[in-house]
Amino acid sequence: TAQYDYDYDYLFKLVLIGDSGVGKSNLLTRYSGNEFQVNSKSTIGVEFATKIVKIDGKVIKAQIWDTAGQERYRAITKAYYRGALGALIVYDITKTKSYENCNDWLNILNSNLDNDIVIGLIGNKKDLQHQRAVPVEEAQEFARNNQLLFTETSALSNENVERAFDELINSIY
Ligand code: GTP
Ligand code: MG
Repeated sequence: TAQYDYDYDYLFKLVLIGDSGVGKSNLLTRYSGNEFQVNSKSTIGVEFATKIVKIDGKVIKAQIWDTAGQERYRAITKAYYRGALGALIVYDITKTKSYENCNDWLNILNSNLDNDIVIGLIGNKKDLQHQRAVPVEEAQEFARNNQLLFTETSALSNENVERAFDELINSIY
């Protein structure tokens, strides 16, 4: 079978971090292949996917690393932050704890990188409005205070997913 290998002008390494179960893997499969799994397995270690994005006639290859949220993989996943130009810290809008932990994720990220990178905060599962536990204004303010991009998304209904990744990539470019 024919294999089409795209040439690219820039390679951007991005990382997805956040608590287990917030929807990191589904955000990535939605973005890279328009797929969603109702019963997805918790990620073991790290996985990655790529997506080609064009900006100003330049071809950007986004190499996106999806890390396991579970504590026991922390030592492994940290090693993958190196060389990242951007990161998305994801929480679940129905789980207060997953939002509160974003501050820890931010610290873990910053303490494992020697340079400043572009970071976006993502409130996922926007489709579950009736179960919302994290007010959008609160997350917005946290993002503003920490110079983070901010978007609420739904990997399930495919709302704002492309926008969130594209905004991050555009900010790096
Ligand atoms: P770890 O790999 O353990 O770190 O978890 P994860 O952040 O990758 O979560 P994952 O993508 O595996 O999703 C966890 C569960 O949430 C799955 O049952 C998904 O179907 C569900 N889920 C993910 N995104 C959404 C969403 O936007 N809305 C709803 N309603 N469910 C979602
Ligand atoms: Mg996962």
